[in-house]
Amino acid sequence: MGGISIQSLGAANVDALRQLSVDTFTDTYARYNTQEDMFLYINKHFSAEQLLTEIKEACNFFFGAFSNDGQMVGYVKLRTSEKPAELATLKHIELERIYVSKAYHGKGLGSVIMQHCLAFALQQHYEVLWLGVWTKNEKAMAFYKKWGFEIFGKHTFMLGKDAQVDWLMKKHLNIPQ
Ligand SMILES: CC(C)(COP(=O)(O)OP(=O)(O)OC[C@H]1O[C@@H](n2cnc3c(N)ncnc32)[C@H](O)[C@@H]1OP(=O)(O)O)[C@@H](O)C(=O)NCCC(=O)NCCS
Repeated sequence: MGGISIQSLGAANVDALRQLSVDTFTDTYARYNTQEDMFLYINKHFSAEQLLTEIKEACNFFFGAFSNDGQMVGYVKLRTSEKPAELATLKHIELERIYVSKAYHGKGLGSVIMQHCLAFALQQHYEVLWLGVWTKNEKAMAFYKKWGFEIFGKHTFMLGKDAQVDWLMKKHLNIPQ
């Protein structure tokens, strides 16, 4: 996919990040959840203050995908603060969130972003990339399977007041010797 550049995000990107987060989250999950739960989640996780705090934290890595005209059309958040017991012996990093703007779905942008994540994780000598994905998000599951992720467990994800089940998936990284 041409015409896309991937850049590390900083404080100047917070407004675009917030807008893309709210739009993509709403497009993906509003049909399955109550308005109240959606509202609670969006207010807690996608406020400018919260995103700015997270961008500044050393455990988080935000990368944005920008189109030719400088618009942010996708992003990924990686983080190292969560520690699943199953991966305790490995140097692990989590793909907490990958969001592609609806107009770009199915055109390979998610794959461009995933490729960047894998290159970053390898370069930083992580041994495994893992994630949680809602059991009903079949599109994302298909995407992760295509990228070689395998299920290794489950965990609970709170969407507002609703406790939902996520599959945990992992991909071992082949660090060059
Ligand atoms: C999941 C997501 C990141 C995938 O990004 P994308 O740009 O649409 O994916 P790509 O075009 O790079 O697709 C790569 C592969 O994923 C799989 N895939 C993508 N969309 C699919 C769909 N609707 N159905 C089945 N498989 C799909 C395919 O195997 C595809 O390979 P192909 O092009 O050879 O068929 C994107 O759809 C998205 O942002 N969804 C909303 C937010 C979300 O659910 N994020 C994940 C949870 S945090």
